[in-house]
Amino acid sequence: MDSTTLRDRTVLVTGGAGFIGSHLVETLEAHNDVRVLDDFSTGDRTYLPDNVTVIEGDVRDPIALQEAARGVDVIFHQAAVVSVSQSVDEPRRTNRTNLDASLLVLEQARQEDARVVLASSAAIYGHPSELPVPESAATDPTSPYGVQKLALDQYARLYGELYNLPTVALRYFNVYGPRQRGPYSGVISTFLEQARADEPITIEGDGEQTRDFVHVSDVVRANLRAAVTDDVGEAYNIGTGTRTSILELAEFVRDATESTSPIVHREPRSGDIRHSGADVSKAARDLGFEPRVGLESGIASLADGGSLTPVSGTEPADSNTDRGTYS
Ligand code: NAD
Ligand code: UD1
Repeated sequence: MDSTTLRDRTVLVTGGAGFIGSHLVETLEAHNDVRVLDDFSTGDRTYLPDNVTVIEGDVRDPIALQEAARGVDVIFHQAAVVSVSQSVDEPRRTNRTNLDASLLVLEQARQEDARVVLASSAAIYGHPSELPVPESAATDPTSPYGVQKLALDQYARLYGELYNLPTVALRYFNVYGPRQRGPYSGVISTFLEQARADEPITIEGDGEQTRDFVHVSDVVRANLRAAVTDDVGEAYNIGTGTRTSILELAEFVRDATESTSPIVHREPRSGDIRHSGADVSKAARDLGFEPRVGLESGIASLADGGSLTPVSGTEPADSNTDRGTYS
């Protein structure tokens, strides 16, 4: 395909009914023929606009995948079991979804001559050997989830080298935003739910551990850029470059919700990463990626009802229509 523009392409989003996938779908559907393959295990049909083609099926099922991918130009592969702790409990089951199915996606893309943009993860670095962590740093995952994402990331590169398949792996750091919810979702949605219910905010461990929180609208923009870049066969960190401790985060959430919920400490999570923060200079250079939503304004916007409406005085949080990508 002519990779200079995404406009009018037929695209498939696996896991398109999920948190990140549904925001991507919402942005793509204005300019693209969009298909979604999702088994709705954590995704929600109500997140999907009416004019997308929904294939309810399992990404591990080659027949469902073949149907969903027929004739597509780009596959955004988001489907996965996202919870690190679930992968610790069930390494084989999560491997089937997170890795085996990803190989099926790559194989299907070969059949269709389609580009693949894959959701990799900061979890591949384990305890990073340097901070902020560049893509060239050692990879030493501490969970089955991290091992699965590392293999996906490496297969993406290898499919480029061996079969000339255009792939881009995006190593998301801690993504947050509207529609993130559920028992296995991220810490920001958990804290917001606790604060809104006037329940204690539960910090695992001392709360001095840090994360790089990136807003979902920035992650969507990174995906759009990855769909057209000439720099294929590469992996990119997608974060902000700013680290925030879980204690600071709890305070941001309390302030934004005007909550008086106490902060309580629990046992630290076993195998938890102590510090995580992205060096995003490679994504800035090759993809023109620049995060636009600061954490405090992103949380304020969520506390305000969760819409992507810009919070006054900050960068717009709904910078979804990336004109450069669609020109
Ligand atoms: P999510 O759970 O909201 O979305 C995953 C989607 O995949 C859901 O709609 C789910 O129903 C679907 N799905 C799961 N198993 C499936 C299967 N076997 N067949 C078909 N569909 C299936 O999670 P998310 O946070 O939107 O994550 C999207 C991607 O980003 C995942 O690959 C995840 O590993 C990656 N990621 C997320 C984060 C984060 O902070 N949320 C960070 C790094 C990487
Ligand atoms: C998250 C993603 C994972 C992704 C990784 C990349 C989720 C569910 N997981 O993992 O898919 O690959 O980022 O960086 O989005 N915590 C508390 N109290 C709580 C919940 C969490 O203190 O109630 C702490 C945890 O112990 C951890 C931190 O918050 O130290 C972040 O936890 P979590 O949001 O689950 O994300 P990660 O494990 O970093």
